[in-house]
Amino acid sequence: MKLKILVTAGDGIGPEVTTEAVAALKEIAALGGHEFAFAEKRIGGVAIVQDGTPLPADTLEAALASDAVLLGAVGGNEFNSLPPDKRPEAGLLQIRAALGGFANLRPAFAFKELAVNSPLKAEIVDGADVLFVRELLGGLYFGRPREWNQSSGEAWNTMRYTRDEVARVARIAFELASKRRKKLTSVDKANVLEVSQLWRATVNEVAKEFPGVTVEHQYVDAMAMHLMNRPRDFDVVLTENLFGDILSDESAVITGSLGMLPSATIGGKVNLYEPVHGSAPDIAGKGLANPLGAILTGALILRHSGGLEAEAAAIESAVRKVLERGFRTPDLVRGNTQGLTVLSTKEMGAKVRETVKEKLLALSH
Ligand code: NAD
Ligand code: IPM
Ligand code: MN
Repeated sequence: MKLKILVTAGDGIGPEVTTEAVAALKEIAALGGHEFAFAEKRIGGVAIVQDGTPLPADTLEAALASDAVLLGAVGGNEFNSLPPDKRPEAGLLQIRAALGGFANLRPAFAFKELAVNSPLKAEIVDGADVLFVRELLGGLYFGRPREWNQSSGEAWNTMRYTRDEVARVARIAFELASKRRKKLTSVDKANVLEVSQLWRATVNEVAKEFPGVTVEHQYVDAMAMHLMNRPRDFDVVLTENLFGDILSDESAVITGSLGMLPSATIGGKVNLYEPVHGSAPDIAGKGLANPLGAILTGALILRHSGGLEAEAAAIESAVRKVLERGFRTPDLVRGNTQGLTVLSTKEMGAKVRETVKEKLLALSH
């Protein structure tokens, strides 16, 4: 299998965690005889500083010419006073729009070993396995008009969706649900917003194509609570852009750390892969970042862009094994460290690679 992967590491901990994800992918390539070609380009704050724009033209060109894009994270405190269209985050939104992927898959899987790390009781989180399908190209993020009118002291954004935009992401969510536990929860605010009423009506229409999947609707406020009270009840959770952003970070509480969460954006010209977390300026450059979310994002590249299911599963089970063996980054430790070994970002990456190797060698014998 040949794959051309563009790495846009970005800011803060982005470069630290993508380095480990790329190293894991290189290990997979070496063990399986695959040809993965990696190129690197700038995005975000680092591109603002060096190129004067958060998404340089050559980055976009290289992205469109690859089979997959792996993005670390963008953003930094030094850019906080800039308007939205000048910030590092604008580069991320521009590359998402240009690559065209509208279905952002954010799996939140509660590894048993990390249950103690969740503030929720182990019996609540153990076995939770939720797949968020977040619509990524519509809603408040892209709706127009949008403006901060300084003279009138008003500002507005527009939450807009078309029926087709909802139907296409709903179809992906239903297809995924039909291959999982066959339950889909659609999240909206249909008691208040017209755009949510359109969302709900469209989801119900698409549901008719998938009679094997059970559908339920939840209001986003109640859903925020249900997720914490009974995360195991949810299988696929379909949401619009902003609700999905918020609920997927909330699901970090189920998994024990934001640093555990991967994502894959599909449905467009080129799939985009990003860990869910941001640039974490508070811990950047210190070797404290958890690379597992980025490494698990690498597994999603293998699954969704490479069709390499066994190799993707090997990374996922290596992550599980490393946790079983008591290895942790600092975010995965809460209180008692007895029996645990706390590792740096690089050490954790190396530990996963070692274990991936064991897994794949065992498979080939
Ligand atoms: P954040 O996700 O960067 O960090 C939130 C908290 O989680 C911090 O305490 C951080 O230390 C911790 N954390 C995050 N990832 C971690 C990891 N891998 N290992 C250990 N701890 C981790 O969110 P924030 O602080 O709200 O935002 C910081 C910047 O990142 C902002 O500029 C924001 O816009 C940007 N951001 C970018 C992306 C992206 O590029 N995909 C996503 C979210 C936020
Ligand atoms: C995410 C981030 C981004 C989003 C920001 C940085 C634009 O929070 O990927 O979750 O809101 O989509
Ligand atoms: Mn987010």
